[in-house]
Amino acid sequence: MNITVVGTGYVGLVVGACLAETGNSVACADVDEGKIERLKENVLPIYEPGLDAFVERNQRGGRLRFTTDVPAAIRSADVIFIAVGTPPDEDGSADLRYVLAVADQIGRHMSREVVVVTKSTVPVGTAERVAAAVGKNARHAFHVCSNPEFLKEGAAVDDFMKPDRVVIGAETDYARTVMTELYAPFVRTGKPIIFMDITSAEMTKYAANAMLATRISFMNEIANLCERTGANVDMVRRGIGTDERIGPAFLFPGPGYGGSCFPKDVKALVRTGNDYGAPLCILQAVESVNDRQKHRLFEKVRSALNDDLKGSRVAVWGLAFKPNTDDMRDAPALTLIEDLLGAGARVVAHDPVAMPEAKRRLEDRVELAEDSYGALDGSDALVVVTDWNEYRHPDFARIKQTLRRPVVVDGRNLYDSVKMAKLGFTYLSIGRGADA
Ligand SMILES: NC(=O)c1ccc[n+]([C@@H]2O[C@H](COP(=O)([O-])OP(=O)(O)OC[C@H]3O[C@@H](n4cnc5c(N)ncnc54)[C@H](O)[C@@H]3O)[C@@H](O)[C@H]2O)c1
Repeated sequence: MNITVVGTGYVGLVVGACLAETGNSVACADVDEGKIERLKENVLPIYEPGLDAFVERNQRGGRLRFTTDVPAAIRSADVIFIAVGTPPDEDGSADLRYVLAVADQIGRHMSREVVVVTKSTVPVGTAERVAAAVGKNARHAFHVCSNPEFLKEGAAVDDFMKPDRVVIGAETDYARTVMTELYAPFVRTGKPIIFMDITSAEMTKYAANAMLATRISFMNEIANLCERTGANVDMVRRGIGTDERIGPAFLFPGPGYGGSCFPKDVKALVRTGNDYGAPLCILQAVESVNDRQKHRLFEKVRSALNDDLKGSRVAVWGLAFKPNTDDMRDAPALTLIEDLLGAGARVVAHDPVAMPEAKRRLEDRVELAEDSYGALDGSDALVVVTDWNEYRHPDFARIKQTLRRPVVVDGRNLYDSVKMAKLGFTYLSIGRGADA
């Protein structure tokens, strides 16, 4: 099939590369000239395990091409995916300007009957607006579908190639047939393609992210209560996660959720609730719990250093909002760093892959250490923010020797409290009893 993906960010690039991998002819179009030029040379704008090999192989095989000529890419397509950003507007609603601009271009430049697939996360009712924007100038039949994306950054290729399910909102047989054909190679193990009406598909994506964010905020609140009561949240997590009705995923307390999706999608869904006169009280609480949680690590370092951060130096391990990505959008590490700088501390940070991104965002406001242990040199405390594998089992003797004061704040509960105490650390983690 001839496929065009408009918007070559995290989602568009993964979608384009994976659809090319199954034999389709794919054009990835973007307005960012620098990005497209680098992609033509197989230089990826993001760190995503396994994606470089897909891009290289399919570009070499002639199934994947990159272009800034969006109209030409639209002309050549039978199926067009819209995968541009939907950032939050000032009032928290999703800004649809980019999605609708692409829809307008599709109407002007399509050269045959097309299926227009919204991959971007968009609020209920957007498909109608996309159809209206395409329809203004369309000279051929078109079918608008909603096909929300559930990939996880850091595991995006695997998630797209082997999805738990594919959700498609479609309202014509033509669209359902095309989408079934397109996704058949990805669901050979029997995972379902769930067809539904477009409104429900649009809502499904927000409901999924809102549920996951809710679990995180819920556990963070329970963790904070554990600290007051002396309970250990790790035990509580295991105790409830083994209940089949609850399940073990997304029950880890931490420094609050971040990334490009949960914060903006929760906000947008709250906004939709208000617009429709059905306020989402739970999600409003999820958001405010998360805002508060993002300051918890700072509060812990401050108390470990006796409220005296001025002139201190704090090492931060982990800048990306989660492991296996260099994405720092809304990362908890950014909140911590701003709090520390605001209190007069100096910050020296390390991340296995997000250092270039950190340099771009923070410039010279923090020192970046090439090596994780190098960050500890002359530092008064270490704060672990992201649970990268390399931080999971470090050389504690070396940490103790290198830090000026043996203070470790563990935002991911990676280490054993008893062992850390025995080694002579002042060790604070999340929700593990009164000493957490
Ligand atoms: N990142 C994720 O993990 C994820 C997961 C699921 C869904 N989503 C959703 O997918 C959408 C895209 O997210 P992303 O993280 O890939 O965004 P991104 O910011 O990484 O990429 C968006 C791309 O669209 C391009 N663009 C903007 N306007 C354009 C236009 N008119 N024509 C061509 N290109 C244009 C930008 O240059 C950019 O490269 C969002 O709605 C997001 O909520 C993201």
